[in-house]
Amino acid sequence: MTFNNTLLRALDQQSLSHAPIWIMRQAGRYLPAYRALRARHAFSTLVHTPELAAEVSRIPIDLFGFDAAILFSDILVIAEVFGFAIEFLEGRGISLRPPDKEICLPPETTLDYVARTIRLLKSTLTVPLIGFCGGPYTVCRYMKRIEPEWLDRVTTASITYLQLQVDAGADVVQIFDSWAGLLPEEEFHHQALPYLRRLVSALQPSGVPIILFCRGASRWIHELSQLGVTGIGFDWEMPMSQLRRHVPEHIVIQGNLDPTLLEGEREPLKKGVDQILEAMRDRPGYIFNLGHGITPSASVDHVRWLVDYVRSFPLTPHRSSP
Ligand code: CP3
Repeated sequence: MTFNNTLLRALDQQSLSHAPIWIMRQAGRYLPAYRALRARHAFSTLVHTPELAAEVSRIPIDLFGFDAAILFSDILVIAEVFGFAIEFLEGRGISLRPPDKEICLPPETTLDYVARTIRLLKSTLTVPLIGFCGGPYTVCRYMKRIEPEWLDRVTTASITYLQLQVDAGADVVQIFDSWAGLLPEEEFHHQALPYLRRLVSALQPSGVPIILFCRGASRWIHELSQLGVTGIGFDWEMPMSQLRRHVPEHIVIQGNLDPTLLEGEREPLKKGVDQILEAMRDRPGYIFNLGHGITPSASVDHVRWLVDYVRSFPLTPHRSSP
């Protein structure tokens, strides 16, 4: 099979016949195959065992033919560097248990299992692999450590962590700063933006395309566009027709379907998808995605339909490819 580089070409703003598509949390609970694996293994076991993590990453690619795979892991594994234990509470989400005394381990060895998962995936995948980390603000919020020293430590560890993923073979990286964009202005400028700037600047020399996802990103288009990222992932607060007018041309746009549309009828889903694709028909640098992670109750049939539909929706060539 030849390598499908549609995502990389969209990130390079090349003209394409259709938009690439992948879905945040595509390797997760809406998939019966994932739930079957989870019946046999704890979440933490799936994340920490490279063979299993690679298997989970591949499920949605084999099933639906997405244009990218995302590493199966979690944004909170970075906390292991500081001795926090990730505890997955069945049905009650996730919690981080702090160590008895402060420690700081090297990310390269602590998170080496992630590099091993990436190398395993890269040996068989025929689509680009997206590596990721959490935004420093979002990670510190889950660690209950929103203080400058901690934001700084998490930023430093995240730089090494993303670099490790790139060295292992990640083709693209996404930063999930899920909570940052919803902050009031003062906090956004002090607790989120400076750390994102340092993280992105440190990664830039590697040349890897960087996508930044924030809920509420449309409130900060100007600030986020100046960070040096390749693309920004948007939620559905601002319709695509408006985003398209406000986001600078050099920034790739990703998003922004309301995930709950995958839980309902086909008609409203199609209407939502059409609105997005119509708005982006002749904009180079567009990646189809949801505005937040897919929900556990999303319909697998809708997802299958969605991938085929996005792929069959013609984009109007805007400039010729080189
Ligand atoms: O498919 C993928 O996107 C790859 C893996 C991935 C997971 N989490 C697996 C996961 C990714 C990219 C994440 C990102 C993540 N994790 C974010 C940022 C994106 C977002 O949704 O805002 C955040 C905030 C987390 C932290 C986290 N992980 C929480 C709060 C929880 C518990 C609540 C929940 O959503 O389940 C998790 C658990 C988690 N991470 C699951 C998965 C598949 C569910 C585990 C299970 O029930 O088996």
